[in-house]
Amino acid sequence: MTARPLLIVVLAAGLGTRMKSALPKVLHKIAGRSMLAHALAAARELGASALAVVIGPDMEGVRAEAVREEPSAQVFVQAQRNGTADAVLAAREAIARHKGDVLVLYADTPLLTAPTLQRLLATLDSGAGIAVLGFEAADATGYGRLLTVAGGWLAAIREDKDASEEERRIRLCNSGVMGFRLDDLLGVLGRIGTANAKGEFYLTDAIEIAGKSGARAAVVTCAEEEVLGINSRDQLAAAEAIFQRRARLAAMREGVTLIAPETVWLSWDTKLGRDVVIEPNVFFGPGVTVEDGAEIKANCYIERSHIGRAARVGPFARLRPNANLGPRVHVGNFVEIKNSTLAEGAKANHLSYVGDGDVGAGANIGAGTIFCNYDGFNKHRTEIGAGAFIGSNSSLVAPVKIGEGAYIGSGSVITKDVAAGALALERAPQTERPGWAAKFRAMMGRRKAKAG
Ligand code: UD1
Ligand code: CA
Repeated sequence: MTARPLLIVVLAAGLGTRMKSALPKVLHKIAGRSMLAHALAAARELGASALAVVIGPDMEGVRAEAVREEPSAQVFVQAQRNGTADAVLAAREAIARHKGDVLVLYADTPLLTAPTLQRLLATLDSGAGIAVLGFEAADATGYGRLLTVAGGWLAAIREDKDASEEERRIRLCNSGVMGFRLDDLLGVLGRIGTANAKGEFYLTDAIEIAGKSGARAAVVTCAEEEVLGINSRDQLAAAEAIFQRRARLAAMREGVTLIAPETVWLSWDTKLGRDVVIEPNVFFGPGVTVEDGAEIKANCYIERSHIGRAARVGPFARLRPNANLGPRVHVGNFVEIKNSTLAEGAKANHLSYVGDGDVGAGANIGAGTIFCNYDGFNKHRTEIGAGAFIGSNSSLVAPVKIGEGAYIGSGSVITKDVAAGALALERAPQTERPGWAAKFRAMMGRRKAKAG
């Protein structure tokens, strides 16, 4: 970090027409978090002292997301999409008020990392007035080319449409990320004109204009994948894939076993402890924490949940929001858990629905148990005491409480509270007719012979 205060201006006014979406482009998600939020997170990590977000007209959803993610963010509306310099000038007020460096980011570049931005800003400490983040493009078409001179300094950025044949052969391109340490940034931006192929105010022209008064521009490079800009759904998927690859690698480096990493989907905030083992085809939505030594077997869907130490989940389990599993809890195949707490060592191993419940330590939920939590209007809770045993195929009609250590006979529909240590049974008594089967078969046999 430089010692000077930093203002970050995030450009998010683009319409994103190529997304073919009712949703503004920067609200599309990577790993369960909007692209805008990813950009704001990088800004936060840099320790910016002020944050400005530039949106287009009629983008109230983007404004709301910006303020939700970063309450201190100032949001500015760029009235007309007149180019990147015009977009930065929309935040004129924030720039005028600010004494220090200014960093410009695009909200549709969600894979940028804070260390790269730090490297960029560090060059502003070593004599550069402008720092540009560049990359070697596999295909440079469409990008601004970085025209460097002896010593690696930047002389100008030439936009693709304005470039000569020779300039087009340059593969070192502008990512769009630029840092400024200029006494008069607003003055420089104000002198930018529109005499170019697109008739737009190019932010990139700042280099030549500031150069005239002696400011030098430096280039810092990063991998192309880090500055991947998202314009379409296929690029969104490509960025998702890169994010996932990074997140899986980070998890494994922290001591998580992923048997088939490429089949496990993580969210931006998934927290996995040491010696967690994750089998193939597991999906994590946002808000999941898994404690040390827990095991998640194949084919689980988990969101907004907590999985305790050494717990075992799956295969084929679904944990919906607010599933809170204590240490050594077992949740088995085809079990769905929602808004429920299972205390230490509790088990629901087969084919059950546990909704709006509190299950005590060591309790056993038999196969096919259903917590009937919804009466068509309201949700109600089911409480099960420690060590209770719920027989298979029971329906617990909430609100209902089962006392500690109680037994529920299989197949019961329980509508009334059960005292601790009691047996509750609700089903018709079993009857038996000795020898009935042989008589039945003989009678049916005779009937069939007569008919044939
Ligand atoms: C820009 C750069 C180019 C660089 C490329 C990298 C300029 C003139 N060119 O080109 O050198 O290689 O990005 O992707 O800066 N935006 C606004 N308001 C505007 C225009 C743009 O907010 O009026 C925002 C867009 O939402 C987008 C970003 O700025 O996030 C870049 O705009 P875009 O039109 O895509 O710039 P390019 O022509 O691709
Ligand atoms: Ca672009």
